[in-house]
Amino acid sequence: MPLWNWRKRADFGLHWDGLDTSSAEIFLNSGIGNGANRRTIDRDSLGRIEAWLMDLPPAPYPFPVDAALAARGKSVFEAACAACHAFGGDKTGTPIPIDRLGTDRRRLESWTVAAARGFNALDRYAWRYRSFRKTGGYVAVALDGIWPRAPYLHNGSVPTLWDLLAPPERRPQRFHRGHIEFDPKQVVFVSDARAAAAGGRLFDTTLPGNGNHGHEYGTDLPEPSKWALIEYLKTQ
Ligand code: HEC
Repeated sequence: MPLWNWRKRADFGLHWDGLDTSSAEIFLNSGIGNGANRRTIDRDSLGRIEAWLMDLPPAPYPFPVDAALAARGKSVFEAACAACHAFGGDKTGTPIPIDRLGTDRRRLESWTVAAARGFNALDRYAWRYRSFRKTGGYVAVALDGIWPRAPYLHNGSVPTLWDLLAPPERRPQRFHRGHIEFDPKQVVFVSDARAAAAGGRLFDTTLPGNGNHGHEYGTDLPEPSKWALIEYLKTQ
């Protein structure tokens, strides 16, 4: 998840399925989830991190951008993507029902009504959780600083923006994660044989939970519009 521009995400569903809406709760619970306990948790320092992330800007794209192509991509984005992905879009920050979205359901199903109730009922901390909930889909996230966020979707199942704009059956079934070399042509951290040789971890989309289907928005755009859209996304 992008840890920047959190002020702009103030009313977003947080975590991929939007299981909470309070950033303070997410920070506390992430501290607990990552090994702190009710005695060792350092709430002042978590508060400082949260305050710092509020207005932290994303890293700008570090390679040249074709401004004319990006300008064309902006109109494609506004027509096909902005309602779900621009700050201020009607659906941005809200969960999109899974049946419509079509991406892998396992992550969504791993969190239940009972889990949300259980977290909101916890009374052994100096604080109470109030905002855990169960939703019916994955959140339409904002795309600011999208270029280094690959692999894409909640389960990291799609290696490049180009692949996300391809019909699911043409998306790569296997690729490698965890390699730092960036390919400006593909707009992605290298995930092919070079990544494998450097010790990258194999990601297999045929395993349960790793499915790369769904999110077919933009897959029927003509190729030049796709490249224009990708050029525009570099500027976000
Ligand atoms: C109806 C709402 C909707 C529309 C329209 C839509 N998306 Fe999405 N998008 C989503 C949702 C929901 C997710 C998260 C899905 C998941 O992770 O399973 C997502 C995820 C993404 C991601 C991955 C984000 C990340 O951090 O991994 C990218 C990139 C993206 N969309 C690009 C686009 C582009 C480009 C368009 C326009 C062609 C578009 N989307 C149209 C709802 C939408």
